[in-house]
Amino acid sequence: MSDNGFEKLNEIMRAYRGTNVLFAAYELGVLDKISSHSIEFDNLARDLNLSEKGLGRLLSALCAMGIIIKKEKSYTISAGYGKLLDPESASYIGGLIKHEIHLQKRWMQLSESVISGLPVKKLDEPVKPEDTVRFINAMANIGQRTAPIMLDRIHFNGNEHLLDLGGGPGKYMEKFCERYPDIQVTLFDQPETVSAAQDSLSKRKYFKNMHFIRGDFFKDSLGKDYDVIFSSNVIHVFGPKEIQTIFNKCYQALKPSGRLLIKDIFLNEEYTGPEFATLFSMHMLLSTENGKCYSEKEMITLMEESQFSYCQTVDLTESSMIIEGIK
Ligand SMILES: C[S@@+](CC[C@H](N)C(=O)[O-])C[C@H]1O[C@@H](n2cnc3c(N)ncnc32)[C@H](O)[C@@H]1O
Repeated sequence: MSDNGFEKLNEIMRAYRGTNVLFAAYELGVLDKISSHSIEFDNLARDLNLSEKGLGRLLSALCAMGIIIKKEKSYTISAGYGKLLDPESASYIGGLIKHEIHLQKRWMQLSESVISGLPVKKLDEPVKPEDTVRFINAMANIGQRTAPIMLDRIHFNGNEHLLDLGGGPGKYMEKFCERYPDIQVTLFDQPETVSAAQDSLSKRKYFKNMHFIRGDFFKDSLGKDYDVIFSSNVIHVFGPKEIQTIFNKCYQALKPSGRLLIKDIFLNEEYTGPEFATLFSMHMLLSTENGKCYSEKEMITLMEESQFSYCQTVDLTESSMIIEGIK
């Protein structure tokens, strides 16, 4: 038992080493190169201008981690990682890796946040355009994977007008429109985010069904007469009072019997798991003034305080769920 304890602590202590191998391989362009075609060691070192000594160690570790395979002098991406690491694939998660590299610096200051209870992210500084792009790309990578799961588990008639509140890159909007050709979806988000979403969605087949509102959901009108309001990974950015304001506005913006669908990462009622949710809630400590992960009961109470009736909870992934309220 004590040996197991040592192994587990050792694994936790050294997890950053594997993380840094992945991040360096991404930053140096090693993964992009290997994912497009099998490549020999000498060519890789020459093309990327890397030392043979350093590249050798990096490739050894990537092989041992199972991300790449060595065949004689050449390297290829392992089965199962190909599409995820191929920049030409719709399943590419390079945007997410880039975002996590950025966030790692924030996580290095965790003790500071735990002492003060305050975020280390400077919330009063203007957001740089490259930060918006990086964030949006990461959200799109996640949405690309989660939206189809959500659409398989939640029923829509297909002729609704749906508001995607804080819709970010519009990945969910895109998947709603692909699945239901007669649905109308309005994406509400901050102006810079909406501009980026509009650019990337403008060539999509169902662009005519997509509508956009630029604004701040605390200050601006959300529009009205929606059949459904869907909001993914927005609520954890805020504290209970702010959520109450958002839910009250949603109530006003929905038709009678309209549906409010809140998709987020939820904690168990004791706040002891799932591990991913506890770590995400920590990330909100580092990054926001009042944000955190909530439990299912807390979310239902917040909905009921804004006059919604609880309808159902639908599991999506280990810690991601949708909680539905009805007006
Ligand atoms: C974590 S992202 C989620 C994006 C998208 N729903 C998804 O799941 O991919 C949160 C989104 O909420 C938007 N947001 C945050 N505060 C907002 C506000 N006050 N008004 C409008 N949008 C806001 C952000 O711009 C961002 O796109």
